[in-house]
Formats: sequence, C-alpha cells, structure tokens
Amino acid sequence: MAIQWFPGHMHVTKKAVIDRVKEIDVVIELLDARLPGSSANPMLAELTLGKPALKVLNKQDLADPARTALWMAHYNALPGTQAIALDASEPAPAQRLVQACHGLAPNRGGMAKPMRVLVCGIPNVGKSTLINTLKGKRAAKTGDEAGITRLEQRITIADDFYLYDTPGMLWPRIIVPQSGYHLAASGAVGRNAYEEEEVAQELLAVLRRSYFGLLQARYRLGAAEVFEGQDEEALLTEIGRKRGTLLGGGRVNLQKAAEIVIYEFRAGTLGRITLETPEEFAQWLAAGQLA
Ligand code: G4P
Repeated sequence: MAIQWFPGHMHVTKKAVIDRVKEIDVVIELLDARLPGSSANPMLAELTLGKPALKVLNKQDLADPARTALWMAHYNALPGTQAIALDASEPAPAQRLVQACHGLAPNRGGMAKPMRVLVCGIPNVGKSTLINTLKGKRAAKTGDEAGITRLEQRITIADDFYLYDTPGMLWPRIIVPQSGYHLAASGAVGRNAYEEEEVAQELLAVLRRSYFGLLQARYRLGAAEVFEGQDEEALLTEIGRKRGTLLGGGRVNLQKAAEIVIYEFRAGTLGRITLETPEEFAQWLAAGQLA
C-alpha cells in the first residue's frame, strides 16, 4: 500500500507565499540530497514562477556524490535555476549560498537594493540548521518589526542581504508512490503515516538494486546472488537474524529489524546513499501521478 499523507494548512501557506514572493529576489528551496525529487514541493514552482530559484541539495554529507552530481546537472539545466550542494551545519559552504544568490540576481545588492531571499523547505530538511549557520553571531531576528509576523521571520545576513523564513509550513506533497516511501525513510513524514516494515522493505529494494555492497558490508550478508528470487522480507529477516532481533522460537522480529535499517539509513551509518536519480524520478512521474 502506498503511503498516504494529507498535509494540513497548505492553503494558508500558499496564500502567505504568494503575498511574500512579490518582494523576493531569489527563492531558495532546500531539498534533501538523498531524495531531491521527493523532497521538493511541487506547489512551490507553481507559486514562485519566474523568480530565480536556488536549489540547495542539503545533507550532501549523507548522499551519494555521483548522484548529487546528476541532480546538480539536472537543476542547472533549468532556466533561471542554479543548484548547490551543502551540509547546512558547515559555515563555509553556507556562504556559497550567498554568492549563488548574487549570481542569480546580479542587479541586487548594496543598502539601496538589498537582496531579499525566501527560504523554503519541507520539515526536517535542515532549514533551521541552515538559517542558524548563516545567522552566525552577526544577524539578529527582526520578528517584531512592523509588517513582519512571527511566522514571517526576517533574518539579516549582511547589511544588504535579508533572508525570509517561509511563512507557514511547507509540507511535502506526495505525487508518486515512491516519494512516500523515500520521505518516510528520511523522516520527513509523521511516524503515524507509515508502517516501518513496509518502508524498510522499499528501502531495501533500492539498496539491493543500487547499493548492495554497502548492505553486504554493514550487515555481513552473503553475495547478492543468495537473495536472487527472494523478496525484500527475506533480506530483512536475514538482517534481523544478523542483528539478533529474535522472538521466541528463533523467529525474527521484523519490526525491530526494520527500525534498525531505517535508523541506519537516516544516520548515514549504512553509507552515502541517494534513493533516486533525476531519470528515475522523471519515469515515476511519467508513469502516472497519484490521484
Ligand atoms: P528543519 O528546520 O528543516 O525542520 O530541519 P532541522 O534544521 O531541524 O534539521 C533536521 C535534522 O537534520 C537535524 O537532526 C539536523 O541536525 C539535521 N541536518 C540538517 N542539515 C544537515 C546536513 O547538512 N547534514 C546532516 N548530516 N544533518 C543535517 P536531528 O537529528 O533532528 O537533530 P540534531 O541532530 O540537530 O539534534
């Protein structure tokens, strides 16, 4: 069963973004570098049409560098769009983001025409981390300024560079079933929206296809051929057995095994993994969107 996630309050966010975007020079969309297609919110492109877009592939330290390069090339080929990859907690890479904004809106800068940037991203993608890194010691919150509500926080990065936090919550919108599993695996959708065993098995299907060597090394599995013709449950059972998640009678506790696989993917313990390529994501979209 595909994961069903019904985001609330999107209409409120939509209106707030429409109002805010008029005075914005560059829209930054933070994406999870391990699932760039799935962590994008399709509504955003619709609402900010025409504004220069900076796609920030965050958590690059957890992602597969070869696949990050594919996603960067994909976004850089789009008109008015630039992509950078970074780890939001590192100050130096975050500064590249400021440079990239100046490149996208070269007519902005200086006290008379400060750069105004809107930062958007679904929950857990690293928005707070990035804002805190960029704020450093220098910036001050100006949430109590006239016309700026607490939800629409303006952060001064430099005298001529303002960052606006997204007004309202930008939830992920699941438009293909694979995105649901990838978002759940990454921790971006609520725990009550999915079953761990189901998500772990989908995760294992991707890992088996593209990163079997990492799985093998982490869980001391036999050769890939051993699992040929078997389903992902068999793989999960074997992982549970190796990790000692046993019930009475030698049965494996699949729930515990699933939690281990998901946790180790999120933490990067399994290795640097990206769950989707631009080509795969385009195929899923073409194969039909969820109703
Ligand atoms: P949000 O505002 O978009 O909801 O996300 P937030 O900054 O709270 O980040 C969500 C989690 O992702 C945090 O981990 C944060 O440390 C981690 N994170 C953010 N950016 C990066 C990155 O570039 N690389 C890595 N590896 N992790 C990143 P957490 O476990 O929820 O909390 P904690 O570790 O900060 O305690």
